[in-house]
Amino acid sequence: MTTLRQPQNVLVTGGCGFIGSAFIRFLFRQAGFSGKIVNLDLLTYAANPDNVAGAVDPARYTFVQGDIGDSELVSRLCREHAVDTLVHFAAESHVDRSIVGPGAFMQANILGTYQLLEVVRTLSHIHFHHVSTDEVYGSLGPTGLFSETTPYDPSSPYSASKAASDHLVRAYARTYGISTTLSNCSNNFGDEFKLMQQLTTVRHIQSMQTFCYLSKRLLTSCGPNLYVFALMGWLRNEQVDCAQRYGRGGKWQSPLCRIQSLLITVVRHKRQCAATLI
Ligand SMILES: NC(=O)c1ccc[n+]([C@@H]2O[C@H](COP(=O)([O-])OP(=O)(O)OC[C@H]3O[C@@H](n4cnc5c(N)ncnc54)[C@H](O)[C@@H]3O)[C@@H](O)[C@H]2O)c1
Repeated sequence: MTTLRQPQNVLVTGGCGFIGSAFIRFLFRQAGFSGKIVNLDLLTYAANPDNVAGAVDPARYTFVQGDIGDSELVSRLCREHAVDTLVHFAAESHVDRSIVGPGAFMQANILGTYQLLEVVRTLSHIHFHHVSTDEVYGSLGPTGLFSETTPYDPSSPYSASKAASDHLVRAYARTYGISTTLSNCSNNFGDEFKLMQQLTTVRHIQSMQTFCYLSKRLLTSCGPNLYVFALMGWLRNEQVDCAQRYGRGGKWQSPLCRIQSLLITVVRHKRQCAATLI
């Protein structure tokens, strides 16, 4: 067991996405965090820079539009901003898109992670936190939960690419001794979720998955949130075992179709409310 130092300057990849932006907002609200955040995001179709607007301290925040695969850029940002912690969210993350076009997922999720690890290998004081998914374990049956010891059984090009990136992270930790942690969280949905896009593209609607709700309000008021809590263990200087995996789940199992109908109800309700205000 190793005690990690309190992070000073954090490079967040994919910080304009759904979860990365929640992490940035949350981190800026932590009294114990006085460092800087560099947000490296390619601004793909999935990004929404408004997710972080207004929630960052401009004096301690830098946004850079760029690719995690650009090793020169990543290396320069790490040096210029004295980065000591890299939290890696950037990914192609939508399962159905991976079925239609797997190439982009292999490029961003496998090669992108590999290229980041290569940079960290040369800057070995940096701690690397890899954000992964419980989809690397496949689908849940009618009962049961995933745990850190569940065998990998990815069932889509997306989850296979995330599984490959997990293996790379663990292999780099063991081979080169770089400091890493890895979280495999369940599905999140919440305020910035690209709702309609997800609803219209999800195909595996009968598969049983675990969900937790990621609320902007809860995060901005420092309330409890499963995923971000999962990531905060090492930030809080707790005893964490480097090179280990940390699973976090909402313990709320549901077929995707049930989540879909719940979300459709919410959207309809919001639209009706908006219509009555006009
Ligand atoms: N959303 C979930 O429910 C969920 C659950 C478990 C794990 N995860 C993982 O969390 C991470 C973030 O998921 P999300 O839902 O926020 O994704 P998202 O699709 O909302 O955001 C991904 C972000 O990464 C950026 N990006 C993509 N490719 C990039 C590249 N090559 N270089 C730089 N930036 C790039 C995009 O522009 C976008 O802002 C992913 O690694 C995903 O596997 C997500």
